[in-house]
Amino acid sequence: MSDLRNLIEQLVLQTLQELRPGFPEIRPLVEVSQVKNTSNNYGKRVPLVAANWKMNQLSASARAFVLELQKLDRKNVQTVICAPHILLPVISAVRKEADLLLGAQNFYPETAGAFTGEHSLDMLADAGIQTVIIGHSERRNLFGEQDQLLARKLAHAMAHDFLPIFCIGENLAERKDGSTFRVLHNQLITGLSEIKAPFPDPEKIVLAYEPIWAIGTGVNATAEQAEEVVAFVRERLSEKFSYAYAEKVRVLYGGSVNEKNAASLAAKPNIDGFLVGNASLKVSTFMSIIEQTAACKRRV
Ligand code: PGA
Repeated sequence: MSDLRNLIEQLVLQTLQELRPGFPEIRPLVEVSQVKNTSNNYGKRVPLVAANWKMNQLSASARAFVLELQKLDRKNVQTVICAPHILLPVISAVRKEADLLLGAQNFYPETAGAFTGEHSLDMLADAGIQTVIIGHSERRNLFGEQDQLLARKLAHAMAHDFLPIFCIGENLAERKDGSTFRVLHNQLITGLSEIKAPFPDPEKIVLAYEPIWAIGTGVNATAEQAEEVVAFVRERLSEKFSYAYAEKVRVLYGGSVNEKNAASLAAKPNIDGFLVGNASLKVSTFMSIIEQTAACKRRV
């Protein structure tokens, strides 16, 4: 049924684009409310678990971590290590498997020039990096990165064939006063605003729901809370792109994920994996999260 729906949607999309080249907004043929209940295509999305080391690790510990991680069979879970820039070449040197992706935690969306302290995507690509985190709440709040810059970064990363992990999340006051969905909607729509038709490959964009109140606090969103938001994100993607497109985009959860709560979160059909901070600093814990994600996604 959903294949037929996708086919019809594609035909409509094609016709509209032929009639009006560059037609940007395609309404999905299904009601938004249906999307929540028809996420039975999740099995086609490859789960992804990303480590966000933030400003942690030194070269010896980074090297040892990656050597150990590569002993784990990770073929069912795409794995990413987002390390501080200076450690990326160190990791790259001991990386034996191309499918272990390396990610940067920041970059500047210009090709080259007078941008003291910054790195371009060409520089990152040159060092073997394929992934970038964009819109992390620490970049937004500690370093003042605003929605417009983040939108430029996202479009720039996609145009340069990087796999961006675009983060959104509400703070505690927003969660408490009931504005969670409004805040997330704004962050998402502004973030995606520079992405124009023809839209890039949906498998090459990753979103992460990271409630600020859950980051580094030890208080994770419950599986139900996270699933509700991730399903909401997929609905918004469906509106911006199409139902078929939204079904292919991976949406992660991040915020105090650890080896104890990973399984219940991964069991939710819309949650495609995790962005892990603290619990990604110890390789055994990180490996356990990967294994549990793989096991859950096989079952769901
Ligand atoms: P945490 O961080 O897992 O330590 O909460 C997650 C993140 O900031 O990406």
